[in-house]
Amino acid sequence: MNIMFMTIMQPLVIGNWKQHPDTVDEAIILAKKVATLSRKSLEEIAVSIAPPHAFLSDVHKALGKSSILVACQGVSSYERGAHTGEVSASMVQSVGVQQVIVGHSEQRLNGVTNEMVAGALQQVIKSNLIPVLCIGEFERDTQGDFYAHIETQLFTALQVIAKSKIQHVVVAYEPIWAIGTGETATAEIILEMKLYIQKVLITHFGRAIASKVRILYGGSVNEVVAKSLIEESEVHGFLVGGASLKPEEFVKIISIVHSNYVARKNS
Ligand code: PGA
Repeated sequence: MNIMFMTIMQPLVIGNWKQHPDTVDEAIILAKKVATLSRKSLEEIAVSIAPPHAFLSDVHKALGKSSILVACQGVSSYERGAHTGEVSASMVQSVGVQQVIVGHSEQRLNGVTNEMVAGALQQVIKSNLIPVLCIGEFERDTQGDFYAHIETQLFTALQVIAKSKIQHVVVAYEPIWAIGTGETATAEIILEMKLYIQKVLITHFGRAIASKVRILYGGSVNEVVAKSLIEESEVHGFLVGGASLKPEEFVKIISIVHSNYVARKNS
């Protein structure tokens, strides 16, 4: 393996709250609990939480001096205008958001196209926010068509931004069959897909850029599977959905990623 891929990148764990919880008070309690319980890990690894848009500002304030980043679950592909129901990257940036999930499969299933994902990615970069680009296949078909699907999702999005910005993009490999199903991908599959994503990045954008892109896994990550997945799949962290709504479990996942990072650094 090339030496550049052997540098240990700081891991990232993201909690995607989706359309939960029901009230801003619950959101504040949840955010504060995660910040308090994960304090030790936050000294070394990056953690972010992605509440629904309605709670972004309050969650940002509730986090106070915590280094937990506030992420948002998606932004418009347009800068501004007559787009009812949409929010722009600059709007969320102005209320304290630092990271944006782009192209989550639950949005793609609702009609968000690769081109719209590319537009949103451009807006996120323009507002100096960190994009988390989600890609993933519906199924691992026996003919292997899913490889081309992943390459298209990656390339159509990344080709629209300046080459110098690609290293700031976080890629989240989230196979749709594993999201919210309890059927976590095996470490073997995740490792294979991580290497494949790196290969695609090298082919299109070069080795130097590819070596800097963090690749996360998402899809039914919980406290039971997190340890073996992080040890065996070599991903740079997780995008956690359901389990991120249970603060103790989410913090357990964070501390597993933290311990793995410390062990690798010291080995
Ligand atoms: P899950 O969701 O952990 O509930 O499977 C992951 C995601 O959708 O990002």
